[in-house]
Amino acid sequence: MSLTGKVAVVTGGARGLGRAISLKLAGDGAAVSVWDLSLEGALETAAMIEQSGGQAIACEGDASSAADIAQAVDRTHEALGAVTVLVNNAALSPFSSFEDITEEMWDRLMAINLKGPFLCCKAMIPDMLAEGWGRIINISSSSAQTGARAMAHYGASKGGVIGLTKCLAQEYATRGITVNTVPPGFVDTEGLREAPVNVDGFARTTPMGRPGKPANIAAAVAFLASEEADYITGHTLGVNGGRYCN
Ligand SMILES: NC(=O)c1ccc[n+]([C@@H]2O[C@H](COP(=O)([O-])OP(=O)(O)OC[C@H]3O[C@@H](n4cnc5c(N)ncnc54)[C@H](O)[C@@H]3O)[C@@H](O)[C@H]2O)c1
Repeated sequence: MSLTGKVAVVTGGARGLGRAISLKLAGDGAAVSVWDLSLEGALETAAMIEQSGGQAIACEGDASSAADIAQAVDRTHEALGAVTVLVNNAALSPFSSFEDITEEMWDRLMAINLKGPFLCCKAMIPDMLAEGWGRIINISSSSAQTGARAMAHYGASKGGVIGLTKCLAQEYATRGITVNTVPPGFVDTEGLREAPVNVDGFARTTPMGRPGKPANIAAAVAFLASEEADYITGHTLGVNGGRYCN
């Protein structure tokens, strides 16, 4: 599946799923703008892409700040051109009992996990409309589909991402832009390993009995970004080892 000539933005591309998605899109031919709070990690991802013969830049910034997004879009335009593939991947995934979730924690999570994708879509849809072609892939979570203990704020934010995806899909369906969401199950990343949970124990509760690999998510994203997927929009493509069957 070729993405040659396309410019992709991947938020949260310094590690984990964002890095795997960046490498896969670049491997398929896209020039990739890797965004993250961690410039060091974003630079590392961009260097990995360049070492394999691809084209990439790294942008430091908060993917939920309109000012940072505007700066990163400008840099991406200058270095690579108009953005036609947007992967909203950056998010926080904290665990907290409902009693301990404060209003501040709720607001912060909604700002990063839900308002961030909203702002990034606002900033990059104009490029896609001008090109008459665009792909938006929002990374949500199987926790929003199944429910999950100690994740009320996270699950609500990711449920919002699924709703945002479906509404934008319908709004832009006649204008060349597809909007889809990939909700991962348990995927072995730095982020999940840092969480106060027994990852392997958790993963054993899925039908496949094991965690997924970042490459599994990247493959689904690359497919949705491809030309071949141009009649798929508003879809929720679960990659979850059978954890949730829709
Ligand atoms: N790993 C899993 O099992 C799993 C399961 C379900 C959903 N997800 C979702 O997949 C995505 C990636 O998860 P991961 O496990 O790779 O996470 P991770 O914590 O390993 O990596 C997240 C990256 O996003 C960056 N980031 C966080 N907030 C940011 C912001 N405001 N602006 C810019 N960058 C920011 C971090 O610096 C980090 O590099 C998230 O949306 C997460 O909710 C992951």
